[in-house]
Amino acid sequence: MSYNLLKGKKGIIFGALDENSIAWKTAERVHEEGGTFVLTNAPVAMRMGQINALAEKTGSQIIPADATSEEDLQNLVEQSMEILGGKIDFVLHSIGMSVNVRKGKAYTDQNYAWTQKGTDVSAMSFHKVMQTLYKADAMNEWGSIVALTYMAAQRVFPDYNDMADNKAYLESIARSFGYFFGRDKKVRVNTISQSPTPTTAGSGVKGFDGFLAYAEQMSPLGNATALDCANYTVSLFSDLTKRVTLQNLYNDGGFSNMGVSDAVMDAFVESQGK
Ligand code: NAI
Repeated sequence: MSYNLLKGKKGIIFGALDENSIAWKTAERVHEEGGTFVLTNAPVAMRMGQINALAEKTGSQIIPADATSEEDLQNLVEQSMEILGGKIDFVLHSIGMSVNVRKGKAYTDQNYAWTQKGTDVSAMSFHKVMQTLYKADAMNEWGSIVALTYMAAQRVFPDYNDMADNKAYLESIARSFGYFFGRDKKVRVNTISQSPTPTTAGSGVKGFDGFLAYAEQMSPLGNATALDCANYTVSLFSDLTKRVTLQNLYNDGGFSNMGVSDAVMDAFVESQGK
């Protein structure tokens, strides 16, 4: 269902790799709600991904940018304003990658060059994106910036590895930059803390299927899907949430406030043979 919530709004969407990507679903929903946008991803991901199909479907242009490169980001912001015909109302940062996770390195046996790369891609890139927008004065007043995160920033999920630290850093950047963006440009900045979701990045985490099933059983409303996340993001881009800022917002079916559920306790007791 469409409510025209984003009619006339213009934005940039980072991170649509394939149709499972949270950014992909978000682009589809934003389009349905009347928003127009530029799609962007790392040049290497363009070769792997199917982003052209999404661009065609949503009438969008694609500008490649490595989100760790200030030069790429400056070019992206400049070109986006040209293409969209003015300043920007919404930005989705949907980017994450840990080399240690990819290469199966344990949290207690980090390759720090990889750790640094992961931090740059997954967290510092958010600062770089916002600093580029801020310096170029590229955001309209009452604009909205959203990044995606996971609850391993607050609680221990051993297999989430160094991504837990990257997410904690990302969430802190949202608050810190959100202050300046709010004070100086009336722009809001939030993170959405999303349930485990079967995507390329998500499935890279060791034991992901167990993760997914456990969260499903723990959450009174079940796991939030990529589409649920897209809908939540649409609300945060809309004028209905104008003074929501500096927040880490859980979209997780209630998981983050649970201790244990009947379903998980029953499964545990059964596994103990009692
Ligand atoms: P995805 O793999 O579809 O998206 C990750 C994106 O990051 C890809 O499009 C990839 O090309 C992009 N990327 C990687 N390096 C980049 C760079 N240097 N410059 C620009 N883009 C780069 O996976 P998903 O799950 O849609 O991930 C989106 C966000 O959601 C990430 O921040 C992820 O950590 C977060 N998230 C995912 C959850 C899950 O279980 N899938 C749960 C909670 C948060």
